[in-house]
Amino acid sequence: MKKLLLAASLACLSLVAAGAERPRLVAKDGRHALLVDGKPFLILGAQAHNSSNYPAALKGVWDAANDLKANTVLMPVAWEQVEPQEGRFDFSFVDTLVKQARQQKKRLVILWFATWKNTSAQYTPEWVKLNPKRFPAMLDADGKPSYALSPFGTETLKHDQRAFVALMGHLKAIDSTERTVLMVQVQNEPGVFGLVRDFGPAAQAAFEQPVPAAVLARQKPKAAATGTWRQVYGDYADEYFHAWAVARYIGEVAAAGRAAYDLPMYVNNALRDPLEQPPKPWNKNFAAGGPTWDVIDIYKAAAPAIDIVAPDIYQPGSAQFNANLPLFQRPDNPLWVPEFGTQPSYGRFLYAMLGRGAIGVSPFGTDYFDYSNYPLGTLATDKTLVQPFERVYRMFAPIQRLWAQWAFEGRTQGIAEGDDRQPQQLDFPGWTAKLTYRMGRFGESAWGGEFTKPAAGTDEPTGGVAMAQISADEFIVIGQRVRVRMEPAAGTSGMMLRTEQGRFDAQGRWVMERVWNGDQVDYGLNLPAEPVMLKVKMGRVR
Ligand code: DGJ
Repeated sequence: MKKLLLAASLACLSLVAAGAERPRLVAKDGRHALLVDGKPFLILGAQAHNSSNYPAALKGVWDAANDLKANTVLMPVAWEQVEPQEGRFDFSFVDTLVKQARQQKKRLVILWFATWKNTSAQYTPEWVKLNPKRFPAMLDADGKPSYALSPFGTETLKHDQRAFVALMGHLKAIDSTERTVLMVQVQNEPGVFGLVRDFGPAAQAAFEQPVPAAVLARQKPKAAATGTWRQVYGDYADEYFHAWAVARYIGEVAAAGRAAYDLPMYVNNALRDPLEQPPKPWNKNFAAGGPTWDVIDIYKAAAPAIDIVAPDIYQPGSAQFNANLPLFQRPDNPLWVPEFGTQPSYGRFLYAMLGRGAIGVSPFGTDYFDYSNYPLGTLATDKTLVQPFERVYRMFAPIQRLWAQWAFEGRTQGIAEGDDRQPQQLDFPGWTAKLTYRMGRFGESAWGGEFTKPAAGTDEPTGGVAMAQISADEFIVIGQRVRVRMEPAAGTSGMMLRTEQGRFDAQGRWVMERVWNGDQVDYGLNLPAEPVMLKVKMGRVR
């Protein structure tokens, strides 16, 4: 008996030592899930300001993340911070961060600010900044150094990589059991502004080489099937070459980091205009070499250790915002939006992103710090900063595992009210959701008079809805400021049988709070300014 008990407790111990399953990405039928503890997880993120990566700043980070109902905090860890002197590492902030995150019941995404942060070298240690011979800048066509570091700096790569490996090794040591850290961003918005590529000697020599086969296999040739970058890609050669050079560098940093501790890794992108179709050659209009949507294939070829190319969306117009989503959501690239602006108008886009199956979302600068990146974000630095996002997170937080599972199964869709305020629709197998905006909650505009006037409080577009088809004729509807009418698909007949307002409990069971009928359904389902969750049962007469 004693022996048996001992064996059982040893088995338990080894389970604990093995820890929770490692976070990882999985794909099926062109869709993606981030598995955390073995099950799909939806990142409801809160990205801290750039200078909140110090213990004294953390209270404002947790307070805001809690107010927001975020489940994950995205936090920079800077090279200058962990290796202030060459070869001497200090991970005390990482230790404090991980410990406090666990106390706050939050997960973490770590942002490695190193060779490139918004393209610049500002987060490199002083010993890097002050030694341009060892850590060279890119050169322009006249041989003049740029502000940004060269992706051909072999010492830069070696030392960035070494520090990153040390960070990943440290995370492995402190987090293999609890898995508080879910993913890692490698660099921040890499690329370069004002220059199309590096013209330094090593770069020039590489530029004159044939385009690598791995790139040719993915990024469609434009001028010739094989040859040098210029021969193959013509007017796009310089920017494609730079994307390859930056991607290869980041890929090497990431691969070494993953060999130390294998977590999902991604890069983030300062966008080019998604409405410029087809995209024209670089004309000083975006950061060349950054992971813009049109070079995702080059990043995939040159940086296989990077799982995701992610958009940072600071484009408040609905046409632009929405155009980015399909460009970054591909069978080989999960949709993950690690940054978007905190202007209140961005709140409604959460429905579009979560509805289309993003593995996660995160507004940027959601911690209480007396600083605002207005006009990208709101001027508010108090609780009103998080409100437009909390409103939506509040609905998804209790069902985040369910939603991630439904999204992975392809059951979900979502949409945000357009700037044009025009009707929209979502098509599901067998049913269509017809959506209209600015309507009152009672009556039809065809009745004339007061009924034709836009509803009070709808001067700005704030509507949105996300829906999950949980069985052939049943939907979960989450939304705000939208009128939803469910209609049978063309050529079929059907009707709404029952609409319940309610919520899911901690065990994932539906809890009905009231049935909507009469006035509440006669003019469609009119979702109010504060979001609601409905379970809608449709039916067909046999
Ligand atoms: C995008 C960057 O990735 C962020 O770190 C930050 O600088 C914002 N732009 C602007 O606030």
